[in-house]
Amino acid sequence: MRTQVGIVGAGPAGLFLALLLARDGIDCIVLEARSRDYVEGRVRAGVLEQGTVDLMHELGVAERLMRESMIDRNLDIRFEGQLIHLDLPGLAGGREVHIYGQQEVVKDLIAARLTAVQQLFEAESIAIDGIDTARPVINFRHKGEQHALECDVVAGCDGFHGIARASVPQDALAVHDHIFPFGWLGILSESRPLADMTYANHDHGFALASRRSPRISRLYVQCAVDEDIALWPDARIWEELHIRLNADHDELVEGRIFQKGVTPVRSFVAAPMRQGRLFLAGDAAHIVPPTGAKGLNLAAADVRVLARALTAFLRRGDDRLLEGYSDTCLRRVWKTVRYSTYMTTLLHRFPAHSTFERRIQLAELDYIAGSHAAQTVVAENYVGLPMETA
Ligand code: FAD
Ligand code: PHB
Repeated sequence: MRTQVGIVGAGPAGLFLALLLARDGIDCIVLEARSRDYVEGRVRAGVLEQGTVDLMHELGVAERLMRESMIDRNLDIRFEGQLIHLDLPGLAGGREVHIYGQQEVVKDLIAARLTAVQQLFEAESIAIDGIDTARPVINFRHKGEQHALECDVVAGCDGFHGIARASVPQDALAVHDHIFPFGWLGILSESRPLADMTYANHDHGFALASRRSPRISRLYVQCAVDEDIALWPDARIWEELHIRLNADHDELVEGRIFQKGVTPVRSFVAAPMRQGRLFLAGDAAHIVPPTGAKGLNLAAADVRVLARALTAFLRRGDDRLLEGYSDTCLRRVWKTVRYSTYMTTLLHRFPAHSTFERRIQLAELDYIAGSHAAQTVVAENYVGLPMETA
């Protein structure tokens, strides 16, 4: 088998990249280890920045998004009985975010790709060879047989636990890793959501009330890193949510919980995002803590840069944009890591915090509550920074 761009992974990074390349007439094949049902059902992020929504429009895949997504114009932060109410468009130049589940984005991209691009599910890449040559090869297993896909370029879009980053010699990558001392326990519930996206800082720990539809709430509570989910029966989750969000039963309606999972809270950046003919994008290269909802949006921003650079290279032999790929992306990545780390530090209960550190955290929140400048900083990062250009 042969293609111009071999894409490992059908998450948001791989799928957006495939559609961008197909639009530009570049041949590509996407190899995905899991089944289509699995990737379409995987519950993760839910906040789309304006730039990600614009990308879906550009690719002609925004029809359902426009019908079913909800526009978020406000962001609330509750702490010690106080409320910070951010008017996002007012503070951030008219920009707003959309609420639309990551798995819905993935479904829309897969449906569009069915006609545009070749995709193989249950095709697990097991090795990427020859990345320092002009003909890298992806070896993969499909239906019990081993195959080789010869490419001009390989895009490693296989997430944090994939093989692409591991194919780069260890001494060629600088790894920056920061693990926070807590996790998030997330649920989906059949219940009316709170009126606005609400983050809460509470002595018991962080909580977040988001949503997926007018009838489905997406709720999170801070938990231990290695939390045993069995210790969180539904009643305990609701009790903690009421306390931390300072929300009574009329505001926070309890419904049937139909999905539960624990997410680690971690920052990780591997640089550069390129080795020879292998380019890393999305979670394969970096992860951010979920506070701020940036992971999916960052993956989309990477592949927008990558698609442009690959098209210039494969169409015209111009490798200038490819040479700048890693640096261009890393500027946005580090600013996003900074913001997600700031929001994480601002809103969580740190087990090791002294009373001094706790008071500083509360003073920061009190400052934001009274400062238009501080609110602007939070809002303009939340709606998404402008795209980096090479
Ligand atoms: P992924 O979505 O991970 O896609 C990678 C794909 O590669 C997967 O489909 C995987 O099956 C496939 N793959 C892996 N190995 C191979 C292989 N060897 N061969 C072929 N295919 C392979 N972000 C937020 O902003 N808010 C959230 O609430 C949030 N919650 C999250 C919860 C969890 C449990 C996780 C893991 C992430 C969460 N994120 C969240 C982050 C966000 O979902 C990611 O940043 C986003 O999925 C990145 O997209 P990606 O395409 O780079 O990687
Ligand atoms: C979500 O809706 O899943 C969500 C919202 C905001 C975040 C993280 C996740 O910061």
